[in-house]
Amino acid sequence: MYRTHTCGELRAAHAGQTVTLAGWVHNVRTFGGVIFLVLRDRYGITQIVSSPQAFPEAHKVMAEAKAEWVLQVTGPVKMRPSDQFNPKMATGEIEVEAQTVVVLNQSKATPIVVSRDEDENEDIRLRYRYLDLRRERMTRNMVLRHKVVKFMRDYMDEHGFIEVETPILFKATPEGARDYLVPSRIHPGHFYALPQSPQQLKQLLMVAGMDRYFQIARCFRDEDLRGDRQPEFTQLDLEMSFVQRDDVLALVEDLYTKMLAAVAPHKRLLASPWPKLSYREAVERYGTDKPDLRFGMELVDVSEVFAGSGFKVFQSALEAGGVVKCIVAPGCAGLSRKEVDALTESAKTLGAKGLATLALTAEGLKGTAAKFVSEAEAEAVKAKSGAREGDLILFAADERAVVNKVLGGLRVMLRDKLGLAEKDVMAFAWVVDFPMFAWNEEEQKWDAEHHPFTMPKMDDLPKFDTNPAEILSDAYDMVCNGYEMASGSIRIHRSDIQRKVFQLLGLSEDEIQHKFGHMLEAFEFGAPPHGGMAPGIDRLVMLLADEPNIREVIAFPKNQAGRDVMADAPAPATEKQLKELHIKVVDR
Ligand code: AMO
Ligand code: AMP
Repeated sequence: MYRTHTCGELRAAHAGQTVTLAGWVHNVRTFGGVIFLVLRDRYGITQIVSSPQAFPEAHKVMAEAKAEWVLQVTGPVKMRPSDQFNPKMATGEIEVEAQTVVVLNQSKATPIVVSRDEDENEDIRLRYRYLDLRRERMTRNMVLRHKVVKFMRDYMDEHGFIEVETPILFKATPEGARDYLVPSRIHPGHFYALPQSPQQLKQLLMVAGMDRYFQIARCFRDEDLRGDRQPEFTQLDLEMSFVQRDDVLALVEDLYTKMLAAVAPHKRLLASPWPKLSYREAVERYGTDKPDLRFGMELVDVSEVFAGSGFKVFQSALEAGGVVKCIVAPGCAGLSRKEVDALTESAKTLGAKGLATLALTAEGLKGTAAKFVSEAEAEAVKAKSGAREGDLILFAADERAVVNKVLGGLRVMLRDKLGLAEKDVMAFAWVVDFPMFAWNEEEQKWDAEHHPFTMPKMDDLPKFDTNPAEILSDAYDMVCNGYEMASGSIRIHRSDIQRKVFQLLGLSEDEIQHKFGHMLEAFEFGAPPHGGMAPGIDRLVMLLADEPNIREVIAFPKNQAGRDVMADAPAPATEKQLKELHIKVVDR
């Protein structure tokens, strides 16, 4: 037996027993000839002591041991003197006296200090990820992730879902990103695509009569990386037959509510049942379709107030068919010139032409708009927005979409600057009634707002030929604290409607057949009405673990440049491999 207990297990009740532990040297100190060595494994840390007198052989080995050596230690569990209890350690009341110590392996000096949770250069952490993962924080994240996934699997099983694996080598399954292609050796010039999600496959499983499917599914998307985006990530992918939107939402809301209580009881739901906002409402009130509902600071439309304004900036925006909206930064009337300039710069980065401000100070109106805004207008804005003395009002005037984006972005920046959101509140909400299509200005074509398999609202079908922008779909998102946590929809199960959608997206008959012929065909063999959703697991665990990005909750993530710096991937292929794959690299 390598060990009788783990390094997180021993308590006062074990005093007197002889135990064997195995683990890594966390740190070593010597006081007056006595060695205090802390031994670590996944479960915790335990203090090992040895003095030169008691067990000289063991002591000699202890004296050599260095950080990250792997030791096996046998000896009696002893109570520490009560003034040496360490309340910060779960095992802090006891220590183990080293009677026999075996060196199972040595370690070179490590490039990162495992026992210290330092934020060194991330590439160093990723290059030596196996050392980084030894750290308590990372171990905790991995355990939490396991618990989340385990809870999901159990819940889905209890509710009649079966987990079905779907292929990784498949055909393009578009979710709005680029595909990763895999060349075929035996079919020259042909490529598999890694699925951006199992979307088509789970729908085909519904056609197959599986009724309730789920999968802890890996998805692959070649897109620009961000803190909440990795090129491969994991979804709780699910699909159900014979359901309407609210059946799907109710199931997932119940799952998340129970999961939160089970795996992160210190987190609180903002509201139960979760709020439901339409896409329009979310965008108008919060400037985004993934609002953070932990705090107010809603966008207020003050276009009416400024209908006859002498302020040119507002006037010209309104005349051009735009809007004037504002947000109120509480207690910010005293922000320095520099701070307001920084907000203005941020607004410009978000697409604004400028940022007008009104500071409500005891001495009256201040700010960049003060000399252009009348007393009556200021009063009307105050009445509409609830702004009070001491507050700073930020105005954006432009096209509606620009104004919403700018103020929505500033709202989130002010949240962070002013600490407006409570960290342990989980403000889950549903956003529903999305537009079906979004106009792609660059390519001058319609894109699917969610994905092309989403069912348009039946009442909106006539608008296909007249006004596609106004077609709503039966798509829904789960949002939390400013993140999009999940997306889903009721699907098209009729090939005539599916074909109409593909056509509107600008696909030729040839392309439709080539890319999605199998879906259209399947829909002609008795496809049941169905719908589903896919919550992102990485983002959820990130929020539960209070981590700033999803790399911290993925064992072996890519760095921000999309590289695995530990294994050094991607890497060039050998000439032999390329030849077998019928591939010529033109530039590198
Ligand atoms: P969607 O593309 O919106 O929908 O993805 C669903 C959820 O997956 C997570 N997610 C990501 N997480 C990390 N890195 C990424 N690059 C990334 N991209 C997406 C998000 C997101 O909300 N097939 C549909 C779902 C459906 O209709 O059932 C889909 O994949 O949390
Ligand atoms: P100007 O008349 O251009 O000097 O602008 C007066 C104030 O209005 C400055 O504080 C600008 O930053 C601000 N401003 C300019 N354009 C806009 C806009 N589109 N929305 C809100 N404020 C603006």
